Amino acid sequence: MKICALGYIGIGVPDPRACLDYATSVLGLMPARACPGEDWGMPAVPGSGPASAGSGIAADGSVYLKMDDWQWRIGVHPRAGRAGLMYLGLEVAGALELEQALAELRAAGCEARAGTEAEARARAVTGMGHTRDPMGNAIELFYGPVKDRKFVSPAGMEFVAGALGVGHINLLAAPLVAARDFYTRVLGFRLTDFIRFGPGDSANFFHCNARHHSIGLLKVGDLAGVHHLMLEARDIDMVGRCLQRVEEAGIPITSTLGRHANDRMLSFYMASPFGFEVEIGCEGVRVDEHWTPSEFVEGDIWGHRGLDPETIQRNLAAMGA
Ligand SMILES: [Fe+2]
Repeated sequence: MKICALGYIGIGVPDPRACLDYATSVLGLMPARACPGEDWGMPAVPGSGPASAGSGIAADGSVYLKMDDWQWRIGVHPRAGRAGLMYLGLEVAGALELEQALAELRAAGCEARAGTEAEARARAVTGMGHTRDPMGNAIELFYGPVKDRKFVSPAGMEFVAGALGVGHINLLAAPLVAARDFYTRVLGFRLTDFIRFGPGDSANFFHCNARHHSIGLLKVGDLAGVHHLMLEARDIDMVGRCLQRVEEAGIPITSTLGRHANDRMLSFYMASPFGFEVEIGCEGVRVDEHWTPSEFVEGDIWGHRGLDPETIQRNLAAMGA
């Protein structure tokens, strides 16, 4: 199976509208020009545009956010209880590849269901299917996203996305062996590198395109859920200006500015209303087909105070409270 990119992600929170200001004025994402499933209307006919009118707020209370040419990349949906990940959208090349992917999932003994037309319309894609990873995260395989162009950040951000996808997401993977097998043997991701930091604990990074990793599997004891979502900015000034907005908004910084040793990402991490941390970085490494995996013995060249297992656990608990 060939996954092209981490195409979109869905997050469940008690009040999506309350996240809109954070997502736009702090992170610099743009409210979707139209929400998935809405009619675009006729550009030349006044008043015929989508009902959400560029607010990013759908009729069901979901909030859709845009970071590049794609209609949306991050969906925030109303859900009672603890905030957290609802689904990951992994892009495949087309209809045939989707069929083959579902067949391969079935052959590997994994859940595999073709999506309906209504489900595809609700994601603004041409076709999709469903599976689950060994942690129980809902994985959607899809092809043919709507691209409406015209991304303008409300905070002057430019994101490195496009064919490289949303960014990366680091999943807490207590069943590490099963998770690694699922993402590599079944989905076809390749190991980029890994770091061991305690008895049985490790951080493992997997790529499906030139981005150093689109999926990270982090084993910290029995911790479950998501550790962080990373969005990559075009340059260091955009990271610095975002850090300043985070400080001005009084949002807790969960890891100080630093540079990772493996993906060379210059970044910081913050608490978010999504139930996991958000990393904003730049200058991440690109890999190619000649890349071979290696083991790193330290996480960082400098900085990044706050990524030790105890602090990770404390921050997760604080965001779930
Ligand atoms: Fe990261």
